[in-house]
Amino acid sequence: MARVKTRYTCSECGHVAGTWTGRCAGCGEWNTLEETRAPPASRSGGLRGSGGGARGAGAYSGLAGKPVPLRDVASPDVPRLQTRIGELDRVLGGGLVPGSLVLLGGSPGIGKSTLTGMALANLAASGARTLYVSGEESAAQVRLRAERLGDAALSVPALAESQLEPVVATLEVERPDVCVIDSIQTLHGAEGGAAGSVSQIREAAAALTEVAKWLDIALILVGHVTKDGNLAGPRVLEHLVDCVLRFEGERERTYRTIRASKNRFGATSEVGVFEMREGGLTEVADPSARFVEEATRAPGSVVLASMEGSRPVLVEVQALVAPTELDNPRRMANGIDRNRLSLVLAVLTRHAGIALGSADVFVNVAGGVRVDEPGADLAVALAVASAQRNQALVTPDGRPLACFGELGLTGELRLVGHADRRVAEAHKFGLRSVLGPAGGEKLAGMSTHSSIRSAIKDGLGRGRAEPAATSAEALGEAA
Ligand code: TYD
Ligand code: MG
Repeated sequence: MARVKTRYTCSECGHVAGTWTGRCAGCGEWNTLEETRAPPASRSGGLRGSGGGARGAGAYSGLAGKPVPLRDVASPDVPRLQTRIGELDRVLGGGLVPGSLVLLGGSPGIGKSTLTGMALANLAASGARTLYVSGEESAAQVRLRAERLGDAALSVPALAESQLEPVVATLEVERPDVCVIDSIQTLHGAEGGAAGSVSQIREAAAALTEVAKWLDIALILVGHVTKDGNLAGPRVLEHLVDCVLRFEGERERTYRTIRASKNRFGATSEVGVFEMREGGLTEVADPSARFVEEATRAPGSVVLASMEGSRPVLVEVQALVAPTELDNPRRMANGIDRNRLSLVLAVLTRHAGIALGSADVFVNVAGGVRVDEPGADLAVALAVASAQRNQALVTPDGRPLACFGELGLTGELRLVGHADRRVAEAHKFGLRSVLGPAGGEKLAGMSTHSSIRSAIKDGLGRGRAEPAATSAEALGEAA
């Protein structure tokens, strides 16, 4: 009865299908289903299996465990391993937990090897045993990078190996405190399919996890992501690991952010900001200062007082509105959710008299940063309104306006969390005029509005109007 079942697993999303199809039903990608073999049916029955008699009542008597009140369980009070990269430690929830499993995802060239190399260098310098396993680069290439990162990086032991078994054996012999596997997609077992296939990734991860848990090794698995930002292949891995970190940003831009999308040992809302320089990644401990300094103050630009986890950050949101002949005008969003942009544009059209039906609209968060919070709505709306009217959102003395707030479908401005901290951050960087939603506590230096229409009127009415480059009529301005 033990029959090996053939299954087909998508290499992009891990979706499992019983039959082969050209297109994955899970993610819609083409030609991604790979044949995998499920274990014989007799082993996978589970507790409620159809086995009948053998698993009937009383079959497991004598095997019962003894539940313990959580109060009486010894608390694992282990000190965390500090990477001494402040932004990384914060996102991890205060450093690496010994014996934990971290998945670090990011597109090629974003700086994953650099970041992990730097973390290992710091850990080695503070006395931890480290190991860097590279399946992608030769030891000489790893050395070249380490040379750029400084002396401490050169003391990290490295192993260039893409075979799973030697890596596991090395872990058993070396017993490091922290080990980086760069990358999980390049590891493959002696038997089995090609490196990077779902079954290989699963096998490699399972084998590594087993030794790591056994020997209390903190493992950082580096993984590549697909073009839409998912970890290529091993979505299965996300369940296995304790912490999933995403390293984001655009390769050509200087700023990179790291955030946790899953963290068993800390919050998932924290964001670390880095800048890639010669000599490695440097932390941007005070991103607001950079972004405000770089804000253009031109029509279409506004400063958003956003919350990135527990920290307020000021970022510049830019919009461009350009007349178009296209039947389906373009909507492009960089750094904000596209659907959120559509919603804001619809609200602007319907409730603020800003018609955008014959205009392309581009919205960008400057510096390659991504904002993922509803509080960004007002900034997007103001930036688009300002671009469309060609009027800058500045105070009479030429300083940018700051703003935050969520837009409701009826054109109302809604409260978002931490208004006080957002306003304080704006004031700290010299932005004395902040527009925000009404209804919360009264804050000095904040003008509150309950509708998008009145917020736009206030925001655009403060500075001097620029000579119109694109006339409002040309864009089909409603009254
Ligand atoms: P890398 O860490 O190799 O990216 P990943 O492992 O995610 O593919 O490096 C990313 C880029 O950073 C690479 O193009 C070179 C550049 N870089 C610097 O600008 N300065 C540096 O000090 C280092 C080490 C790399
Ligand atoms: Mg790399």
